[in-house]
Amino acid sequence: MRIVMVGSGYVGLVSGACFADFGHKVICVDKAEEKIEALRQGIIPIFEPGLDALVETNVKAGRLSFTTELAPAVAEADVVFIAVGTPSRRGDGHADLGYVYAASKEIAEAMKGFTVVVTKSTVPVGTGDEVERIIRESNPDADFAVVSNPEFLREGAAIEDFKRPDRIVVGISDERARPVMNEVYRPLYLNQAPILYTSRRTSELIKYAANAFLAMKITFINEIADLCERVGADVQDVSRGIGLDGRIGSKFLHAGPGYGGSCFPKDTLALAKTAQDYESPVRLIETTIAINDNRKRAMGRKVIAAAGGDVRGKKVAIFGLTFKPNTDDMRDSPAIAIVQTLKDAGAIVAGYDPEGMDNARQMMEIDFTANPYEAAEGADVAVLVTEWNEFRALDLDRLKTIMNTPVFVDLRNVYRAHEVEPHGFAYHSIGKNS
Ligand code: UGA
Repeated sequence: MRIVMVGSGYVGLVSGACFADFGHKVICVDKAEEKIEALRQGIIPIFEPGLDALVETNVKAGRLSFTTELAPAVAEADVVFIAVGTPSRRGDGHADLGYVYAASKEIAEAMKGFTVVVTKSTVPVGTGDEVERIIRESNPDADFAVVSNPEFLREGAAIEDFKRPDRIVVGISDERARPVMNEVYRPLYLNQAPILYTSRRTSELIKYAANAFLAMKITFINEIADLCERVGADVQDVSRGIGLDGRIGSKFLHAGPGYGGSCFPKDTLALAKTAQDYESPVRLIETTIAINDNRKRAMGRKVIAAAGGDVRGKKVAIFGLTFKPNTDDMRDSPAIAIVQTLKDAGAIVAGYDPEGMDNARQMMEIDFTANPYEAAEGADVAVLVTEWNEFRALDLDRLKTIMNTPVFVDLRNVYRAHEVEPHGFAYHSIGKNS
């Protein structure tokens, strides 16, 4: 198959490299010349474990290439994926489809022969219909089918998720697309990954419903965690106790500082807006959004309480800034609201993150340090915000020696009280009485 990936951001690049690895011939297109030039030189603009090696292997094998020229690539393609960004529209929270529609028009003008156009970007219900309309209007002679094929990969585990998905969802409105999509995903199909064909609108909604459900699940356990603290229960044991019920499932039941990232906050908001537009509000999701927003600031207040109720002039050390480990992504990271709350209360904040500091510098003004110990030098509180592996085995004796007061707030429950307290710390975690 000759595949073109329009948009070489996170999803486009990972999907493009993985499709090439399946044996397809893939061209990744992006308007950003510097990005394409860097990719040609083997420089990957994002941090994703294993992606650099995958790109290198497939470029060397002649299956993967990069260009800024959309038209010649699309003219030769059997399948064109749209994997451009759909950020939240400023003001109203709807997904901004400007890039998707612009790409559709360009694709329409360039396509030759029967072409399957696939939206991989997360797009609201009905976007496929609009893409189809734009293509038909821009090129009345075009022979094409528009397909929805949402992506479910997680940052930090993207390649694994792509190659071993729980399922592949394909929404079609033209049967001619089915054999083409079967061929695109043949290696996974052979690996027994279920491929679920639905209508296009259904497929578009599945993506939002999946992310909203996961966001709701996290928010549920976060509220239970707050209750645990009040009643003297342990949220990790509650998670295990309910998660072993196969109907509930153990995943996405880790209580923490609230979900962040480029997907859950944006997608829950867009789903709530769409539902309002159709006068069928999704109140569980609206509430989830509100609870999660509050939670991030509440975590800042939790740190202040741990410091004795006042952080004015005190130093707080933050371990981990990204929204989760194994990514350099800072978008909607809980660290942003936590740092802001602490600074508003007069704290001096120092922070360290293994991969996210370049991005964090654009978003917050704190003292960025070379390692967690430098951040903790003279600190009154240390806060573990993101559960990077390197924070799982901190030298607690060293930390105790260099800190001004030994207070440790563990917002990811990486440690247990009995591991930390013997080193002389006041230890605070999530959803427990410590
Ligand atoms: C999420 C979904 O998991 C993917 O399936 C989806 O494809 C992706 O969005 C997307 O729409 O593109 P991602 O945002 O990369 O993936 O990260 P997650 O691993 O889902 O984590 C999201 C947030 O939830 C993080 O802030 C994480 O710390 C938090 N989280 C996750 C918890 O607080 N507790 C949990 O138990 C799980």
